[in-house]
Amino acid sequence: MCGIFGYTGAQNAVREVIAGLRALEYRGSDSAGVARISPEGALIVQKCAGRLDALEQALAAGGDVSSRCALGHTRWATHGAPTDANAHPHGTPRVQIVHNGIIENSAALRRRCLADGYVFASETDTEAAAFVIDRYYRILGDPILALRHAAAELRGSYAFGVLFADFPDRLFALRHESPLLIGRRREGNCVASDLAALGEGERRYHPLEQGEIACVTPDDVLFYPPDDGAPYHKDVLVAAETAAPIDKGGYPHHMRKEIADEPQALRDTLFPRIRDGLPDFSADGLDLDRLLASPRVWFVACGTACHAARLGASSFARLAGIDARAEVASEFRSACPMPDARDTVIAVSQSGETADTLAALRAARESGARTVAVVNTKGSAIARAADCAVCTEAGVEVAVPGTKTFVAQVALLRLLACALGRRAGRIGDDEAARLCRELSELPDRLTRLFDREEEIVALSRRFHRTCSGFTFFIGRGEDSIIAAESALKLKEIAYVPSESYPAGELKHGSIALIERGTPVVAVCSVPSQREKMLSSLREVASRGASVLTFAACDPDGALRAASEAVFCAADDPAPLTDPLLVAAALQLFAYHVARQKECEIDRPRNLAKSVTVE
Ligand code: AGP
Repeated sequence: MCGIFGYTGAQNAVREVIAGLRALEYRGSDSAGVARISPEGALIVQKCAGRLDALEQALAAGGDVSSRCALGHTRWATHGAPTDANAHPHGTPRVQIVHNGIIENSAALRRRCLADGYVFASETDTEAAAFVIDRYYRILGDPILALRHAAAELRGSYAFGVLFADFPDRLFALRHESPLLIGRRREGNCVASDLAALGEGERRYHPLEQGEIACVTPDDVLFYPPDDGAPYHKDVLVAAETAAPIDKGGYPHHMRKEIADEPQALRDTLFPRIRDGLPDFSADGLDLDRLLASPRVWFVACGTACHAARLGASSFARLAGIDARAEVASEFRSACPMPDARDTVIAVSQSGETADTLAALRAARESGARTVAVVNTKGSAIARAADCAVCTEAGVEVAVPGTKTFVAQVALLRLLACALGRRAGRIGDDEAARLCRELSELPDRLTRLFDREEEIVALSRRFHRTCSGFTFFIGRGEDSIIAAESALKLKEIAYVPSESYPAGELKHGSIALIERGTPVVAVCSVPSQREKMLSSLREVASRGASVLTFAACDPDGALRAASEAVFCAADDPAPLTDPLLVAAALQLFAYHVARQKECEIDRPRNLAKSVTVE
């Protein structure tokens, strides 16, 4: 989503802001802008549609940009098209703001500001918020009072960076729901949407709490409570050293490198949690008994993480006998009945910043449920909001399409389900050790799979050449979840209209869409579903569908006989991990279809890596 970065201090503020926004580009960006206080004390704004490069060119063309205090923004449009006028910052010669979130009562605020004589230059909700702040500042003459009064009128989610012309060396920050951090530097201080913008090495920061206001000067940070309490200082938190600079490792795209990283992501996530051949989550501070005692365990997540959560719920049910279910986070709050104090809610999120998932987690806490976060980003908002955070160790995932984090999430939840089943006495040590061995072998099995990439490239070329229009993905049991994830990948990186269906459901309506040449991708990694999957393949093939099957194995050749092409991902059957092997093959398939179409794979249109608005 939108990215916020502001700097005040001895360095060139605009240069610092551009560097900070560059690190936030992964959140998606269709326009960008920066407000700065010139040496003469004027509040100057430059902003334009397009990626950050366009803003950099505009700044370069504009001559001197020296400044000690500046505030920047990369926008992912929610209200109004990505145009120069709708780019942030927004405001007046007195006050300029940048915003991440959605002001839900912006229409009423806009009407009120128009009546007050304000003239809108954009279609954005942010401009209305800027004018409300300006109005209170004009009346009260104090930035903290103005922000407090304005916050009382705003509804929705927001993280604001604010610059007042009368305070040329300081930034103000205020948030409700959307995350925001204050970064501490040796030279100066900054305001940032997330840790990624705080640079390499040790990162010192303060998370801004709900409703809290920060006043950031080059050598100090003061915090103000939402009410009229006195200002205070807060302890500095330290984020672990960042990993080596993120490059593509010689691959054409981050996505392809991150698929190649999957074996190592699995080793780093699983091996520290397997001790003497058995699952061991003691270092995570997880209360397994509390989880087992929960009448219901809910998973909440979005997108790819929700597919991982669904597979996690399946593992919890099968291995530990837990009543587990996965809910799309944005639908969770309308679930009925909601969890209660005996239940556990597990939020799955690679970024740890997804607003829908964070909101669901907060709702779970309000219902009294115990909350667990499975995240790939330590110190993220979701990790901090949960009672306990369990981290995948997949490394930073740059490409918008989730790949290695998905594989790591599913494997971690499989291992946790094994630990729970063993704790519950449903799995003996021998079976638990066997499952741990299977999980431990998955990294090498993936490596062997990736050695066969050319077979998948050939299938993607055939698909690209012969298949156009709507593509079906079908599977049964856990394969229906793999089918859903694979359809999402083809949609988001190759823009192929695709949808997944439980294979058994096709005959109840959707099969009406099948005609000669309709592409159907069948997922068949679960041995117990083979016979019924064969029936589904024959159903669609008899109506002219072009069937491409991704399976774990096809010992009797039946799948091959029922398909136009078959890819068998496994060299030997391993029921716990075969679905992940097939999922990885389908990630490569989608990737190579997108390459044939020369799509912008790492940053697909309209998408952001971290969706921080509801
Ligand atoms: C996955 O390919 C997408 N980028 C998207 O569905 C993503 O999984 C979803 O937005 C959830 O993100 P999170 O894991 O950071 O919460």
